[in-house]
Amino acid sequence: MNLLEKLFYSPPGQAIAGKAGLPEPPVLRRGPVWPDGPIVVASLGSGTLAADTLRLLGRATTEPVRDDAEPVPGYPGKIGALVVDVTELRRLVELEQLRAVLRPAVRALEGSGRIVLLARAPAEVDGWEAKAVAQALDGIDRTVGKELRKGATTNLIQVAPEVTPSALASTLGFLLQGRSAFVAGQTWQVAPADAPAVADRPLAGRVVVVTGAARGIGAAIARVVAGQGAQIVAVDVPAAGEGLSATANAIGGSALQLDITAADAGSRIAAHVASRYGERIHGIVHNAGITRDKLLANTDAARWASVLEVNLAAQLRINQVLLDSTVAGGLADGGRIVGVSSTSGLAGNRGQTNYAASKAGVAGLVRAMAPDLAERRITVNAVAPGFIETEMTARIPFVQREIFRRTNSLGQGGKPVDVAETIAYFLEPASAGVTGQVVRVCGQNLVGA
Ligand SMILES: NC(=O)c1ccc[n+]([C@@H]2O[C@H](COP(=O)([O-])OP(=O)(O)OC[C@H]3O[C@@H](n4cnc5c(N)ncnc54)[C@H](O)[C@@H]3O)[C@@H](O)[C@H]2O)c1
Repeated sequence: MNLLEKLFYSPPGQAIAGKAGLPEPPVLRRGPVWPDGPIVVASLGSGTLAADTLRLLGRATTEPVRDDAEPVPGYPGKIGALVVDVTELRRLVELEQLRAVLRPAVRALEGSGRIVLLARAPAEVDGWEAKAVAQALDGIDRTVGKELRKGATTNLIQVAPEVTPSALASTLGFLLQGRSAFVAGQTWQVAPADAPAVADRPLAGRVVVVTGAARGIGAAIARVVAGQGAQIVAVDVPAAGEGLSATANAIGGSALQLDITAADAGSRIAAHVASRYGERIHGIVHNAGITRDKLLANTDAARWASVLEVNLAAQLRINQVLLDSTVAGGLADGGRIVGVSSTSGLAGNRGQTNYAASKAGVAGLVRAMAPDLAERRITVNAVAPGFIETEMTARIPFVQREIFRRTNSLGQGGKPVDVAETIAYFLEPASAGVTGQVVRVCGQNLVGA
């Protein structure tokens, strides 16, 4: 912390901040923790998917209160979450039913409470009105999320028609638990899949490679994914060797000193896995990334190339090698590829043309690869972090940093663990129906989310 920052976060500094209208950010519920209060389930039709999925997850549910009666009823106490099945809504007038269950719930929601809507994607419904209604739900999700307080969030899951409770369980469970603390206002898609049951240590014995694991988000990913039982291959540049060993040693993983831009990076990863573990990789997390920020007017070829090389080109080459089924230590069928994009790539960010190009490219890559790898049951997804407190963001000037930190629905920066938990969810075998997704972990940035 620099001097200005120390002053800002000191008790007098905070008192001044409070007077200036900057509220103390809420403490978010994190980890594999369910809401305290009851989980309310409402079905606006005959569907039972939400209730069936929660039963599979071993959670009790209660009935909703609707505000279509007089006097307007309320819940007797705080509620932990509201899950609404709106998959059968097709007509504009039917949205009133959603308003009638949302309103009392919004008022009764506990801190870090959850609202989750189960819907159909516009492409899955027929007719102009039905498609408009499906899109309207997205607007409701994002707007209610911006109105909630005390760390509560909304998310929208678009479930394909044949999705079973077992295919939905990992996503619904993730969104209701504290693991999704910094994930807000997002739209998720779940496709039918033969998904195994959600497990406590779902990655037991599986090998997962994490690049850029010496510090920051990468170190958190290694820690969280190891906590799910995985054997971690932690990759980082030789210059970060000390941090890399610390990460690997703390979790009983192995360290591989490697610059991912090396031409033979993919084959060195595969060779390490084959010789060390004698099996194939379950997942690779392409987390290593760099920034070389300048306005485009000052961006030379070297700044341009280095960022695109590390953040995108290296992944393309490594994937190509690991996806070759004849390479020992390559990616197993049913495996997982997870990219790390950025809200800068999705929304654009002044001074980051090179970085935004690389991170939007990661999103494009994920969407392109997912259908091509479906036959091998390999899923490809990405997280797009917003402002996360790491050494990378510690370099942003203080005032600008404080603005980035606060301009989201949760009023604070995220933690590396928030990104790591979302990645761990993608890696779960139970997330087999989730592919081609780019999900922001940004606390619902006011810009573009
Ligand atoms: N911190 C944020 O707010 C934020 C926001 C959006 C996206 N991201 C992305 O998340 C990822 C991790 O970010 P972070 O904040 O932890 O960054 P960081 O700078 O703290 O860590 C990045 C790690 O990647 C390693 N690395 C860099 N180049 C490499 C190379 N050629 N080969 C191997 N390893 C290499 C670094 O040595 C470092 O250990 C990056 O892809 C970043 O772009 C971060």
